[in-house]
Amino acid sequence: MSRKPIPSDLSVGQMADRAGVPVSTLHFYEAEGLIRSWRNTANHRRYDRRELRRVAIIRVAQTVGVPLAEIREVLDRLPRDRPVTAGDWAEAAAPWRDMLDARIALMTRLRDHMGHCIGCGCLSLDSCPLYNAEDRLGGRGPGPRRWTGSPEERA
Ligand code: FES
Repeated sequence: MSRKPIPSDLSVGQMADRAGVPVSTLHFYEAEGLIRSWRNTANHRRYDRRELRRVAIIRVAQTVGVPLAEIREVLDRLPRDRPVTAGDWAEAAAPWRDMLDARIALMTRLRDHMGHCIGCGCLSLDSCPLYNAEDRLGGRGPGPRRWTGSPEERA
C-alpha cells in the first residue's frame, strides 16, 4: 500500500497524527521551547515536517527517563537557521552517551537479576544470605546496593 508523501508543512492535526501525540502535547512542547511552529496567512499554526524528528526524540528520551531539562539542552544545541544534519544530531547528543550507557547497564541488570538478591535490605530471598548476609550491604547506603552501589558491591 502506498502512502501519501508527508507535506513539508503540517497542520497541527497532521503533526499530531504523524507524531502519535495529542495536540495538547505539541502545544506543551512548543510552550517549553522544544519545537516551533509558524502561522500561515490564514493564521493557522503550521509545523515544518522536520519538527517530527524533534518530537520523536523527545518522546523516546522521555520514555527512557531522560528529564525534559536534559532533552532541552540537546535540542538547544541544534541549529535553527539551517536544516539539521545527521552530524548535528550526533554532536548534540554526544553528552548523552555516558548517561545512556549507564541507564542501559542498569536496565540490563533489572532485566537479568530481578529474581536475585539486589541488596535492598529485605533479606526475603533464599539467595540473600549468600549475597547480603545480615544486610551487611545496608551499611554502605540505602537502596539496592548490588545495582546502584560501587562495582565491588555489584559483584
Ligand atoms: S533481595 Fe533484598 S536483601 Fe536480598
